[in-house]
Amino acid sequence: MSQSRQPIVIGNWKMNGLEASAGELNAMMAAAAGNSACKVMVCPPTTLIAGFAAKAAGSKVAIGAQDCHDAVSGAHTGDISAEMMADAGAAAIIVGHSERRADHGEADSLVCSKAEAAHRAGLVAIICVGETEAQRDAGQAEDIIGGQLEGSLPAEITAENTIIAYEPVWAIGTGRTPTLEDIEAMHSFIRGKVQALRGDVALGIRLLYGGSVKPGNAKEILGIEDVDGGLVGGASLKAEDFAGIFGVFS
Ligand code: 13P
Repeated sequence: MSQSRQPIVIGNWKMNGLEASAGELNAMMAAAAGNSACKVMVCPPTTLIAGFAAKAAGSKVAIGAQDCHDAVSGAHTGDISAEMMADAGAAAIIVGHSERRADHGEADSLVCSKAEAAHRAGLVAIICVGETEAQRDAGQAEDIIGGQLEGSLPAEITAENTIIAYEPVWAIGTGRTPTLEDIEAMHSFIRGKVQALRGDVALGIRLLYGGSVKPGNAKEILGIEDVDGGLVGGASLKAEDFAGIFGVFS
């Protein structure tokens, strides 16, 4: 973590959460109230964005979305545009999560268009990259991540409108994480790659680690150089766990 990049911990609720989950949001807002050391964001399912954004207004917890269509509007049944996410109160949109890349066949070019859509709507794009276990075992992790960055990053990115999340696919929901050395090496590689692609803007862009971050490992993982926060799945559903993660920054 660098002094010049304010850390952020983002909860990705994935396809979990109902109106009844508002109690967890309330507890997260209470826990975040005294924390000025890091930003906190919750990305609930789309059905909860407007309600959560209203509840969280004026609190330290921002609300984000998990995906969007890349068009502004049109004949795309079931899809939701970045402008609609903004209208509902989202401050950011996760794009290119490995579950969308796998479940919906999203390629880098579409991830890039979605990131551009988020920017067009005035929102932060949280762009996800990550290698599979087979790719890591084959020694291809940096090649894969480098290629995803080349294809997924819009031409114009700023430290304010873009966050990059490194989420090794094999660490998501498995309880397994890379070694601290491997995380540090990959984050250093990513920053260098983004700098090579887009220049010194890379030095201000926050790089998050995601994949089995828990209260028990958050301090060491989020303390790594070039790790500017976390993207948290399962452990972001309960306020006690999530607060135990973002609380390492207080
Ligand atoms: P877990 O924290 O459940 O491993 O999920 C990580 C993730 O995919 C966040 O986007």
